[in-house]
Formats: sequence, C-alpha cells, structure tokens
Amino acid sequence: MNLDVLPGSGNGLDLSEVDRIVASRGDGPEAILPILQAIQSHYHYLPEPALRQVARITGLSPAALVGVATFYSRFRHKPTGQHIFRVCHGTACHVKGAQLVEDSIRRHLKMSATDETDSEGRFTIERVGCIGCCTLAPVTQIDQITYGHQASDTVGDAIRDFLSRNGKAAARPTIIAPTGPAIEVRVGCGSCCLAGGSGQLRDALEAEIARRGARAVVKPVGCVGMCHQTPMVEMVGSGGAGPLYTRVGADDAAAIVRRHLRPAGFFARLRSTFSGWLDSWIEADQREELDRHLTPPRDQAVCEFLGPQVRIATEHAGRLSPLDLDEYVRLDGFAAVRRALKEMTPNAIVDEVEKSGLRGRGGAGFPTGRKWRLVSEGPPGPRYVVCNGDEGDPGAFMDRMILESFPYRVIEGMTIAAAAVGAEEGIFYIRAEYPLALERVSAALDQARQRGFLGDNILGSGRRFDIRIVEGGGAFVCGEETALIASIEGRRGAPRLRPPYPAVSGLHGRPTLINNVESLAMVPWIIRHGAEPFAAIGTATSKGTKVFALTGKIRRGGLVEVPMGLTIRRIVEEVGGGIADGRRFKAVQIGGPSGGCIPESMADLPIDYESLSAAGAIMGSGGLVVLDDRDCMVDIARFFLQFTQAESCGKCTFCRVGTKVMLDILTRLCEGTADKNDLAKLEDLAFQVKRASLCGLGQTAPNPVLTTLKYFREEYEAHLRGRCPAGKCQKLIHYRVHEGCIGCTLCAQHCPSDAIPMLPYQKHAFDDAGCTRCDVCRKVCPVKAITVE
Ligand SMILES: Cc1cc2nc3c(=O)[nH]c(=O)nc-3n(C[C@H](O)[C@H](O)[C@H](O)COP(=O)(O)O)c2cc1C
Repeated sequence: MNLDVLPGSGNGLDLSEVDRIVASRGDGPEAILPILQAIQSHYHYLPEPALRQVARITGLSPAALVGVATFYSRFRHKPTGQHIFRVCHGTACHVKGAQLVEDSIRRHLKMSATDETDSEGRFTIERVGCIGCCTLAPVTQIDQITYGHQASDTVGDAIRDFLSRNGKAAARPTIIAPTGPAIEVRVGCGSCCLAGGSGQLRDALEAEIARRGARAVVKPVGCVGMCHQTPMVEMVGSGGAGPLYTRVGADDAAAIVRRHLRPAGFFARLRSTFSGWLDSWIEADQREELDRHLTPPRDQAVCEFLGPQVRIATEHAGRLSPLDLDEYVRLDGFAAVRRALKEMTPNAIVDEVEKSGLRGRGGAGFPTGRKWRLVSEGPPGPRYVVCNGDEGDPGAFMDRMILESFPYRVIEGMTIAAAAVGAEEGIFYIRAEYPLALERVSAALDQARQRGFLGDNILGSGRRFDIRIVEGGGAFVCGEETALIASIEGRRGAPRLRPPYPAVSGLHGRPTLINNVESLAMVPWIIRHGAEPFAAIGTATSKGTKVFALTGKIRRGGLVEVPMGLTIRRIVEEVGGGIADGRRFKAVQIGGPSGGCIPESMADLPIDYESLSAAGAIMGSGGLVVLDDRDCMVDIARFFLQFTQAESCGKCTFCRVGTKVMLDILTRLCEGTADKNDLAKLEDLAFQVKRASLCGLGQTAPNPVLTTLKYFREEYEAHLRGRCPAGKCQKLIHYRVHEGCIGCTLCAQHCPSDAIPMLPYQKHAFDDAGCTRCDVCRKVCPVKAITVE
C-alpha cells in the first residue's frame, strides 16, 4: 500500500467517521493503533482514502501509518464479506484437525484454497493463530459466535446455525451484574463456557426463574477451570454449594429450575403442606435425563481434577462474579492494596515480593522482586507499569481466563506494583482477539475508579495511579517486551537489542515495569498472606503455583493451577484423567512456540524452570498440549515453525531467513521429498538461529524442532523414507480398503470430494488423486475396513 500514489479523493467513501475517530483518539503517534482499530471496526477493513484522511488531519506521515497498518495481521486492506469466518489454527486445534475443518468450510462455501471471500460476498475466511478456546478444539468463530468441537462433517451445521440467527446473536456477550440472591444459580461465563452455550443457558434459566417467580438469581461466574464439562450450573444456597450439573444446555433449564427452586409466596406455603409435590412436576423421563448431568458431591473425576490444585492466581474460581466489586472486596479483595499503601514502604513491598521467590510467569522466569527493585531505583520522574496481556502463543489461554474472570485481582496487582516502583500510570496491553477480556477489564477499571481504588487519591492515601488499555493488533512478537513498548508508542512492533532493559529505559525512555498477567495476579495473595506461605509452595528455585492451559488429547482439559514441582505425569494422568479415546500417551508440548516436546518416557519430570530448560523445553507462559500416538512429531515441529516464521518481524536475518529455510526443510519432510542431508542441515540451522537471533522469538523458535529431533529422531528418519508413522502428514497418507468391507456405501455417501465410487454390496476403492484425506470415510466405516498406510 503506497498512499503517495493514490488519488486524493475519498472514492465515494463517507469519511466523516474518520474525523470523529481522530477527534476522540488524539493525533500523536500513540493514537495510531487505536485509530486504525476504530477505522477497521467501522469499515471492516482499512480503506486507503481513510488512511489518507488520517494523515491529513493528524500530520502523521503516511509512512508511519502504512508501516503500522501493514505490520499487524488483524488489519485488513481489502473489503471483506458480510461476516468474518475465523478458523483457529492454535496447537490444540491443529492436532485435532483444524486444517480439515478449514478445507471443509471452503468446500461448503465453494471457495478455493486461496480465496479470501466467497463469491456471494457473505463470508471472509481468516486463519487465526489461536482464539484461546483450546478445550473446545477445533474451534471456529463467525463474527462473535464461537463454535467448538468442529469437524469436517459439522461445519455445515455451524453455517446453517449462524445464518438462522439472522445476525441477532452476533453481538458481544453481555455481562449481568448480580443482586443479593436467595439462591445463587452459578453459571460459568468465561469465553469457553460461552462458546459451549452458557449464554443461552443463562438466558433460559433467567426466563424460567422469572416465569415461576422463584427467589433465586442467576450469577455469571468466571472460569471454573473444568472446561471439559462446560456448560455448568451449580446451585448454591445458604448451606453452601449444592448440586452441580455439567454439560447441560438451555433445554435443561426448565427442569433444573423446577427441581430446585421453589415458587415464592403462596406456592411456598403449598409446598410445606405437600412435601415432595414439586418433584412430581418433573416427569420421570425428564428427571432421568437431568440425573445424567448431575455430578455427585464427591464425584471421583471432579476430586481428581481439583485434588492437586492450589488456587492463588485463580483464587475463588467458580465463585466470584468477575465484575462484582462488592463481592471481590468481601472476599478480601483490595485488602493487599490497603496494606501496601497504608502499612508498607515501597521498599518493604519489593522486599516481600523478592522473599516470596515469585518469578515472571510470562515465559522467561525472571525474578519479579529483582525487576521491581531495578525500576524503583531508576532516576526520578515518570515511571510506568505495564501488564502484558498479549498472550499470542497458540495453545495458551491462561491470561485470557485470568483477565476475564479476575480483572480486579490484576488491577490490584498492578496498583501494588505501582506503589512499589513509584509509577502513576499503568497500561493493560491486551490482544484484540480477546474481546471479552477487553470488555471486562474496561468495565472493572471504570468501577475501580468510581470507588476510589484507582485515581488521584487511592483509598485516601494521597497516592495517584490510573490505568488505560491498549488493544494489540494481532502480532505475536508484540508480547516481547521491547516490541510491546514500540507498539504502545505507535511504531511497528519490532523488538530491539537489550540492554538497556525496559526496567531501565522503557516506555518513552523511562523506567518501565512489564509483568505478565499471571505474575501480577499472584501479588495480592503474597502481600495479604506474606512471602513465606508462597515460598513454602513449589521447589527450591521455582516457588508458588503455575496456571496451565491443559489441552489436546486429554480426557479432562481445562485451566488448572498446580504447585510448581508437580510432575508432568500427575498433571496428565491425575488432573487431566489420562489420554482420551483409549489412545497412548506420546508426549506433551509445553511452552508453545518457544517451548518443546517432552516424551512420555520423561513424564516424571517435575514442572519447574530448571528441569524443563534442561530437557530443552521452557515453562513458557503455560500452554500444555497433550499428544497421543496419532500425532506426528515432525508435523508438530513444522506447525510451530510455520507459526514463528509467519510471526517473525523480519528485523534480523537469522530469524527471518533461518526460520524460512528450516520451515522449507520441514515441509519437504512432511511431503516426502526431503533428502538424507536435510536432517543435518535442519539441526545445524536450528542451533545457529537459536544462537544469533536478536530477540526471544528467534532464540527459542528452534526449540520444538530440536526437542523433537532429540526425542523422536526415528520419526524424522521414517519421513525421509516417505512414511508418516502416525498417519498424519496428508501427502504421505494413502487409504486402503480391506476385505472386511461390506459394501454399505457409507464412505461413498460421506466423501465430500466424490473420491469413492458408490459400489453397493461390493468392496469399495479410492480415487487417490481426488481424495482430500479428510478422514471422514474412516470415521463412518462401521466395520473399520479402511486403514491408513
Ligand atoms: C516472542 C515473544 C512473545 C512473548 N509474549 C509474551 C506474552 O504474550 N505475555 C507475556 O507476559 N510475556 C511474553 N513474553 C515475555 C516478555 O518479553 C516479558 O519477559 C514478560 O512480559 C515479563 O513479565 P514477567 O516477568 O512477569 O514474566 C514474550 C517474549 C517473546 C520473546
């Protein structure tokens, strides 16, 4: 895009909105990202005349505008269809068949592999690095509606469902503030729950409660962590937690209300006379159906899932309503800020955090207290506190969940950090792919400000601190702290060499404290309870707990918080319930694109920074994707390299070119065209890219390759011989029909590309050239007569 060669006219576009956007966002470089985001949200893309108009009004150079506009993947430069059809290609979605889902969407919409928009102009397909609903993988999203557990043969249902809504449900999920309940009907309302249908369930429960005049209130609560059981309803009365229903839908709402909630007034008196009368309202079959969703109070699976967990960053999970400030305060919320401001000196706060042994949860594990001290010792003048909520790693959604479910806790952590380092301005940098997190943090900031927890005189202490939000533009590299600063300052998000570290010279050249969401969410607990109880959890060098997004081929996926030092095997087998579908545990991918693959044989490794790094992986931010025997480790390495290659900012040659050459080799391996020298070349390049790249992205990008080469070399060698032992690499797959075929024609009926001629009562055969390897035939064959070779 070159603004200088464009005609100056508005090309018939109404540009008055651009004027309004600039007037409300400001005209300095820091306003570039918010301005572009607002323009895209209005026009659905960035029309060139609109950018020209921005340049004219603000005096910003076209080069600066176009530089930023072309850096971030979220910005579109061509008009789109009426709806955006996002296909998640995160790790969990990838291992569960995201590409097959995308292929199927394209077939349904009659789009080629390279088309962006269908011929009717209705849908534009967008590949997304990770939507962050990994436990529902594979996931797609049409506008604001998320569809989980997608497969080649369910894509049509999702499209039909979306079109049947006539765009009505396309609004953002709304949040309801609760009022003093008699009985709380708790419904999990994190992004995963909403994608699983919690929004409709909540509406149905509210309607039924209103219709029956029952004294109860539906309380939307944050992430419960048991994402594999969503949607969930828990009935909580004065006697504490009551029945828990899992995997229920809007259809079950009436039966739940009838079973547990008594009508008020006259009906209540009737009930006392005729005990058991209410139960008879539920017909026997309905009751039986409901019982199937009822989880007994000491359910073994729930106990195993929760057993080893210790909640610090996710304290009160499933109980707190994310935006209920009174409830947060009732549960000791902001007590730590009060203590920090009224009873502690800045130095004492830093001492406490240092003694706790807390290390940064954003990946590198740098000691948090030491970083705070560095910032606090900076020269006088402005200092900043930045909460890094960019979380772009595929397979990770810990920070999204914490921001959505515990926004006040992170605000409290930032406020304590500000008191410790002497900052008056804070910034939440949150990725735009997390609309619910953005919405809730924004609402929480408003309420905290109104109640004096933020502002010019926090809790009457005379201390000033306020926080604003900067919405990221969809670039993974912007999670790197120097790139993040460039992005906030309105430049392309390219990292720079360190030192100087941001703690010394960060935003606007001033000392800047950058901490991860989870690190900050740990702080209020540490200040409230003291450093010792925190330091008593974990190992000698890795203290406290770690939140993991446990996904992949696991029976009980979800958001878990466990003590540091727990073994991988206990997380997979105990918390996660082992491998799904009776398959074999093969490996875990830990730490996302910067991390590595640890084989099952090393699953007794304790989770701590040093052990993981000795094994060639890293803790990363906490994505833990479990892989089974159907996952190909060469494909996994190629998947991550494809991601990091696409996300490389291109500033340094080793990362830009090195990852590209590595990716080419991995692609050749997956397609069966690599030669015997390629493995040595791949390994050599991996070491060079690791050693010579400018920032953490390039320095860690080879980890998935190096760990799979180290632990699964025989799979690479099989690919050199044209074989994919896991049967995953499409170009190396050939289907074979065995003698057991009964000629039922089901495979031919389901084949989306007519690659199986219909031969009733005869053994079927494949047209290998026409086959798209979607695997539907193998799934529908009732006698398992189709195998992969
Ligand atoms: C490519 C890349 C992406 C990163 N993404 C994130 C991120 O999304 N969130 C995060 O907190 N840290 C991320 N980091 C690490 C940050 O640079 C920084 O170390 C961290 O925010 C510091 O916070 P902590 O000390 O609390 O971990 C990333 C680093 C790299 C190299």
